[in-house]
Amino acid sequence: MKLEIRDYKIEDVEEVYNILSQNFIHPWDKKSLTLVSNNFIKKVLVLDGEIIGFLEMQVVADEADLVMIAIKKEFQRKGLGEYFLKQIIKYLKERGITRIFLEVSSKNEKAINFYRKLGFVDYSIRKNYYKDGSDALLLELYLDSGD
Ligand SMILES: CC(C)(COP(=O)(O)OP(=O)(O)OC[C@H]1O[C@@H](n2cnc3c(N)ncnc32)[C@H](O)[C@@H]1OP(=O)(O)O)[C@@H](O)C(=O)NCCC(=O)NCCS
Repeated sequence: MKLEIRDYKIEDVEEVYNILSQNFIHPWDKKSLTLVSNNFIKKVLVLDGEIIGFLEMQVVADEADLVMIAIKKEFQRKGLGEYFLKQIIKYLKERGITRIFLEVSSKNEKAINFYRKLGFVDYSIRKNYYKDGSDALLLELYLDSGD
């Protein structure tokens, strides 16, 4: 079994789009998956040649906004998302990032549990933020460079 994290490539668009479609009612369109920018970090998690996870972050100065993380449905709840994000956190620390922040729907219980397990804590809330009326929880994680 070979598990690796590598940079996202344009050729991955179909596989990544399929993962997002499985997980979201309104997934990003394929066009937004083809945009390239230096401020965005896009990574895929690959198991034996198959893409099973996707992550995107926007880096602004020494902070990173976790815009998206998704694991292919049939591979969820196996510790792979945790492995993926922990490896990315290590990589961000090496790049001098001191804080990661994100927003998550108050209805997305599994993602909230996931982020909390990784140490993210609440710093604010936006009421009725999403179309379905749910709130956006704003979570953050400070990266201790001493670890
Ligand atoms: C959130 C997500 C990335 C987690 O990835 P995962 O590989 O399934 O998570 P892991 O197996 O590494 O789980 C780590 C922890 O997250 C929490 N968790 C994960 N899935 C959960 C579930 N279905 N119910 C409750 N808690 C859950 C648990 O605390 C879990 O630890 P535990 O198994 O020891 O209890 C995955 O569920 C996913 O892709 N969800 C859909 C996309 C999404 O909502 N992304 C976040 C918003 S952009």
